[in-house]
Amino acid sequence: MPMSLRPALELSLDLLHCPTCRTRHLHPHGSALRCSAGHTFDIARHGYASLLAGTRATSGDDAAMVRARDRFLSTGTYAPIRNAAARLAADAVSEQATVVDVGCGTGYYLAGVLDHLPGARGLGLDTSVRALRSAARAHARAAAAAWDVFRPFPLADGVADVVLDVFAPRNPAEFHRVLRPTGRLIVVRPTGRHLAELRGRLPAMVTIDPAKEQRLHRVLDPFFKAAVTELVEYHATLTRPDAVDLVAMTPSAHHVSRADLNDDGLLPDQVTVSVLATAYRPR
Ligand SMILES: C[S@@+](CC[C@H](N)C(=O)[O-])C[C@H]1O[C@@H](n2cnc3c(N)ncnc32)[C@H](O)[C@@H]1O
Ligand SMILES: [Zn+2]
Repeated sequence: MPMSLRPALELSLDLLHCPTCRTRHLHPHGSALRCSAGHTFDIARHGYASLLAGTRATSGDDAAMVRARDRFLSTGTYAPIRNAAARLAADAVSEQATVVDVGCGTGYYLAGVLDHLPGARGLGLDTSVRALRSAARAHARAAAAAWDVFRPFPLADGVADVVLDVFAPRNPAEFHRVLRPTGRLIVVRPTGRHLAELRGRLPAMVTIDPAKEQRLHRVLDPFFKAAVTELVEYHATLTRPDAVDLVAMTPSAHHVSRADLNDDGLLPDQVTVSVLATAYRPR
C-alpha cells in the first residue's frame, strides 16, 4: 500500500466509480487512484483524492474562509447543530452506515455524525483545497475527495446510507442516485432568523431569501419526502474574534470592509443561531 493512501480512503474505495468512464472501482496505483481503463487521479499529499483532475470547480470557499470556519467551529458554538444532524442520522440508519457529506468543508459535521455511528465510514466531497486538507484528517473513518456537487458524482448507485448537506450547494438527482432506497438525505439550512443580529448591523452580509424554503421543497420534492424536521434555535455568546470569524467564513466576507470589522461596537456579542435540519426519505 502506498504511504499516501490513508486507511479511511482505502475504506471508501468501493464507493467510487471512475469520474471519466464510470467503471466501478478505483485502485491504488503509486500515489494515485486508477480505474481499469487507465484513468488516473492523484492522491494529494494531504490525503484527499483529487478526482476533479483539471476541471474547474464552479464554486468553493477560499483558504481565508475555510480558516475562519475552522476556528469558529472549534469554539463549539455550532455543536448543537452538529448534534442534531448526528441524531437524525443515528435514528434512521445502522451503525455500519456509509455517510457522504457533500460540501463537507472542514469535515466538522461528518466527524460528528461518525462519532454517533461507531461502525460507520464517511466520505466528504468539496471543491475547496483548503477545506479538503482539513476534511481528510477530520476523523479516522472519514476520507475526502475533491468533487463539484454540480457534476455527476464519482460514486456508484445506491452506495450511501446518509447524504449530508450542511449549508452547502445541492444536487437532488445525484443525491437520490447515490442513496440506498432505505437511506436518508439530511439537509441543514438557515432560517430567516439565523444570525439576524449580524445581518442587521452589517448591511453587506448576504441576506436569507424568504422564498428559500419553498425553493428547497420544489427542487427536492421529485426525489425526496421529508420524514423528520428539527428546528435548532438558540442564542450564542460571541467573543470579538468569534464574531469576526463568523463574518469571514461566509461569502459576505468579500463585501464587508476591514474598517467595518474593526469598528468597535459594530459586531454583536450575541447572535441567534436558527437552522432547520430535515431528514428526507428517497421516493
Ligand atoms: C457554507 S460552507 C459549509 C461547509 C460545511 N458543510 C460546514 O457547514 O462547515 C459551503 C461549502 O460548500 C463548498 N462548495 C461550494 N461550492 C461547491 C461545489 N460546487 N461543489 C462542492 N462543494 C462546494 C465550499 O467550498 C464550502 O466548503
Ligand atoms: Zn476510467
